[in-house]
Amino acid sequence: MTRILFYLEDYSHDIWREALLKIDPTVEFRSYPDWGSPDDGPAYAFVWEPKPRLLAQYHNIKAIFSLGAGVDHLTRDPALPKDVPIIRMGDDGLKEGMAEFVTMSVLMHHRGMPALLAKQRQKDWGRFFARAARDVRVGILGFGALGQVSAATLLPFGYDVAAWSRTEKLPRNGISLYHGTGSLDAFLARTDILVGLLPSTSETSGLMNSDRLARLPRGASIINAGRGSLVVLDDLVELLHSGHLGAASLDVFPEEPLPMDHALWGLDNVIITPHIAAITRPDTAAEYVLRNIKKLERGETAENQLDMKRGY
Ligand code: NAP
Ligand code: GLV
Repeated sequence: MTRILFYLEDYSHDIWREALLKIDPTVEFRSYPDWGSPDDGPAYAFVWEPKPRLLAQYHNIKAIFSLGAGVDHLTRDPALPKDVPIIRMGDDGLKEGMAEFVTMSVLMHHRGMPALLAKQRQKDWGRFFARAARDVRVGILGFGALGQVSAATLLPFGYDVAAWSRTEKLPRNGISLYHGTGSLDAFLARTDILVGLLPSTSETSGLMNSDRLARLPRGASIINAGRGSLVVLDDLVELLHSGHLGAASLDVFPEEPLPMDHALWGLDNVIITPHIAAITRPDTAAEYVLRNIKKLERGETAENQLDMKRGY
C-alpha cells in the first residue's frame, strides 16, 4: 500500500485523489490537513507550495514530489529535509502544455499580434507584414525538458532556433546550441524572440538585467514562461519604453499576482498571463508519480531528481 500526503491550497483535491486511485486503487490518499501522525508509517509527499517547516515535521516521508517542474516553492523552506529525495514534475502533460504556450507566444510575436491588437483598440487599419519564419531567430534560455520539447515544436514552422544551457549538449539537427555564461552575449545578439525557460536559482535570478536585455537586437521580443526572478522588471519596462525591445509576453513574475499598480499592466506591447503556461495535469502527473514511486521502491533513482547543489 502506498500512502501519499497531498498538499495544494485553494483547489479541490478530489481530481488528484481520483487520478491516483484510477491507476492504483490501493493508494492511501491523505489530503492536507488530514495527514495523520508522522508515526503512521512510510509515506510520499506530493505537494505544491507547502507551508514552510511542514515537511520537516513528518520524519516518515521517503520522497517529496513537486506538483510542478519548479522546486523553488520547496527550496525556499529553511527547514526542508536534507536527506529526502525531491522529484520535479516531468510528465508529458506539462511538456505538451509548455510546447503549446511557447509556440502560441512565438507565433504571436512573429506575426506582430501585440501591435495589431493595440491598433484594433484604436480602430486603426495599419498593417503589419511579418518576415518569413526562417528569417526569425528564436532563442530559448534553458534546454531542459521544457526547452527541448518547445524547440522541437517550433522547428517545423521553419524558425531559426537556438538554445542556451548551463552544460554542453550533443548536437541536435536544426538547433544552434550555446552553453555557459561566456556564450550568453553571442546567443542574445542573434535572438529576435527570446524565450525564458530557466529554473529560479542563485545563478539565474536577475540574469536578464538592462545590460543583458540590451544585447538583444533592436525590436526583439521576450517571452518568459520559466520563473519571474529571471527578468529585472524595471529594466524591462525601461527598454520597452525606449523601443529597444518591441514587445513581451510574461507568464511569471517576481511577485504573483503582479501588483495592481505595476507599470507593466499599462503597456500596450505586453501580454500578461497569470502563470498558466503549463499546468500539471492530474492524469499524466499521477502516472508519473506512481511510476517513480515504484522506481524508488526498487532502489533506483527517480526521474528528474533535484540536485541541491545546482538548485534545480
Ligand atoms: P529542466 O529540465 O531542469 O531544465 C532546466 C534548463 O535550464 C537546463 O537546460 C539547464 O541547463 C538550464 N539552466 C539551469 N541553470 C542554468 C544556468 N545558470 N545557465 C544556463 N542554463 C541553465 O527544467 P524544465 O522541466 O525544462 O523546467 C524549466 C522551468 O520552467 C522550471 O524550473 C519552472 O521554473 C518553469 N516552469 C514554468 C511553468 C509555467 O507554467 N510558467 C510550468 C512548468 C515549469 P543544463 O541542461 O545544462 O542542466
Ligand atoms: C509551474 O510553474 C511549474 O513549476 O510546473
